[in-house]
Amino acid sequence: MSRPLLIAIDGPAGAGKGTLARRLADYYHLPHLDTGLTYRAVAHMLIAKGWPLGDAPHAVEAARRVDLTALDRTVLSAHAVGEAASKVAVIPEVRRILVEKQRAFAARPDGAVLDGRDIGTVVCPEARVKLYVTASAAVRARRRLAEIEANDGSGDFATILADIERRDERDMGRADSPLRPAEDAHLLDTSEMDIEAAFQAARAIVEEVLAGGNEA
Ligand code: C5P
Repeated sequence: MSRPLLIAIDGPAGAGKGTLARRLADYYHLPHLDTGLTYRAVAHMLIAKGWPLGDAPHAVEAARRVDLTALDRTVLSAHAVGEAASKVAVIPEVRRILVEKQRAFAARPDGAVLDGRDIGTVVCPEARVKLYVTASAAVRARRRLAEIEANDGSGDFATILADIERRDERDMGRADSPLRPAEDAHLLDTSEMDIEAAFQAARAIVEEVLAGGNEA
């Protein structure tokens, strides 16, 4: 039996890893899990109940109740939920519970695509392909603003950039599972790429691994 095609994609907020993960999952006919949604679901439950984001016992209870089959992207994609998610994501017990669920998802015989912050380093260190997707903070802020405007919203570039930089700091600076590339990750800087170019670059990396060249 061939080795499962498990693809781990990590990177900071707005680097384009979600779109890339969905495209790769479609292309290789694999299930996809956006692990950011699991942290967002915890934050969303706390906000809905009016509990503080630093309330560890309630956050742990919320993490236990996260159901991977019922993650509603429309509700969870709100900017404020993402900010809140990065605050509950520093609680080690919350991470332990969510990582267990994420690993259960990753354990498919054919493989899976997971994207997040610690997939290649903590959740699936055995992944066959690891990608670390980045782009400059300014490019990520510009993309986020364009996304908001495409949905008929409005935003301010300086505020979005400051949010992105603050989230980077929180995600890279936390003690438990900080955002960093796995040693064997392939780095993909999408600053100068559109979605199609980023997908083709990622696909080329996966194909090279499948051809036996460059196993993670
Ligand atoms: O990727 P997304 O913006 O949805 O993630 C929201 C937050 O959840 C991140 O800023 C990060 O703090 C946290 N997260 C994490 N580990 C993951 C995925 C997301 O800590 N694997």
